[in-house]
Amino acid sequence: MQRLAIDIERCGAGAVGARGLTDSMMEGLEPRLEQGRQAVLRAAGSGMMGFTDLPDESPAQMLEYARESAGRYDALIVIGIGGSALGTIALATALLPFYYNELSDEEREGHPRLYVLDNVDADETHALLSRLNLERTLVNVISKSGTTGESMAGYLIVRERLERALGRDALKEHLVFTTDPDKGVLRDIGSALGVPLFDVPPGVGGRFSVLSPVGLVPAALTGMDVQALLRGARDMAAWFTESPGWKNPACLYAGVQYLQDTAFDRRVSVMMPYSARLRDVADWYRQLWAESLGKAVDRQGRTVNVGPLPVKSLGVTDQHSQLQLYAEGPDDKIITFLGVGEFENEVVIPAPESGDDALAYLGGHTLAELMHAEQRGTTWALAQRGRPSLTITLPRVDAFQVGALMYLLEMATAVAGELYDIDAFDQPGVELSKQATYGLMGRPGFEKLAAQIDV
Ligand code: PA5
Repeated sequence: MQRLAIDIERCGAGAVGARGLTDSMMEGLEPRLEQGRQAVLRAAGSGMMGFTDLPDESPAQMLEYARESAGRYDALIVIGIGGSALGTIALATALLPFYYNELSDEEREGHPRLYVLDNVDADETHALLSRLNLERTLVNVISKSGTTGESMAGYLIVRERLERALGRDALKEHLVFTTDPDKGVLRDIGSALGVPLFDVPPGVGGRFSVLSPVGLVPAALTGMDVQALLRGARDMAAWFTESPGWKNPACLYAGVQYLQDTAFDRRVSVMMPYSARLRDVADWYRQLWAESLGKAVDRQGRTVNVGPLPVKSLGVTDQHSQLQLYAEGPDDKIITFLGVGEFENEVVIPAPESGDDALAYLGGHTLAELMHAEQRGTTWALAQRGRPSLTITLPRVDAFQVGALMYLLEMATAVAGELYDIDAFDQPGVELSKQATYGLMGRPGFEKLAAQIDV
């Protein structure tokens, strides 16, 4: 199977001039990069690095559940937030047919339409629940902690509607929970109701959970090739294990990002896929990079306040929205282009009518040629202005390649955590806001905090 490729030429001084990477800078970082890779290899599978075990886990139970469920539901609602939703959205955009929810039952081959409720917007929730036939709806509530307020609110609303429409005994036919194997109220409720339960392994954090049942249960239910996703991740894991230093794809990605930040103050990390299928991979990556690397203190407890700002963008659409800023605004960005070798469909641009000479240059080319030309032209034009970029090219967008890409970015995040010397697997900065919400919503034990906010 052909592997993805990473090209960093347009980060180098040869391409972008004085503010480009030099051989000596790269050589200087290499020992730390390799130490970081070794540290990641040593920690793999332990503590909060459980995500490295996921590619080797058997998906048999999930596939069996999906087989049993086939044809029974017209709609699957995923209720989750952050790492419990973004992976599913990224997989669905990348791997389900475009406009999947508009396909007929036959075209979907018995798989349900997919809706992800990852917000607490009253109008969106109301609109979705009023639209669906609950008798033909399955709801996958996903929460690692089994306590997240937003997801639990969604669960309570859906449960009440299901119970009212179908009765309490029917709940177990319309709910499936993905949560911690031991802890959390969701696990208790699920066990009491006899709802099918899938485990999020305790050492797998939300944003690293896409290849666990968090991402794979919805993937299996909607007919994605779960085995190929895992194969792609396994291949990337082998690549990571066998290649040292700059030869390693995750180290290459992390090392370049780190040097752009620390040597050139380029703290904005833009991810710009030139493929509509990969647009939500950029959104998923935004959370992965931000929550993992945005930290106040390092592992020695020193205040560092580090963290590049990940930005999602889309080629070519954002050439007409963001590119002006990337080209002429502050030189504080490193852009990752995500390119695709082959598109599934060939769409030829017809020749214009004679007389429309201004459009003649387009005629006879394919849309893929236009996409590739725009990507190459933009990469080059940015370099002319001294703006660096790197390019990850997938031979095509399929389950194998997407599994490899997502696993690559997870490993790169772990390596970047080593370079910044921070804990990439916690998120203490979001706690206070959660507690404030508890206080404002009247949760016992948080009264004092609520009083402070009101003051
Ligand atoms: O990556 C993370 O850890 C977070 O984004 C969580 O996924 C998010 O807060 C949801 O948590 P939970 O799955 O416990 O409901």
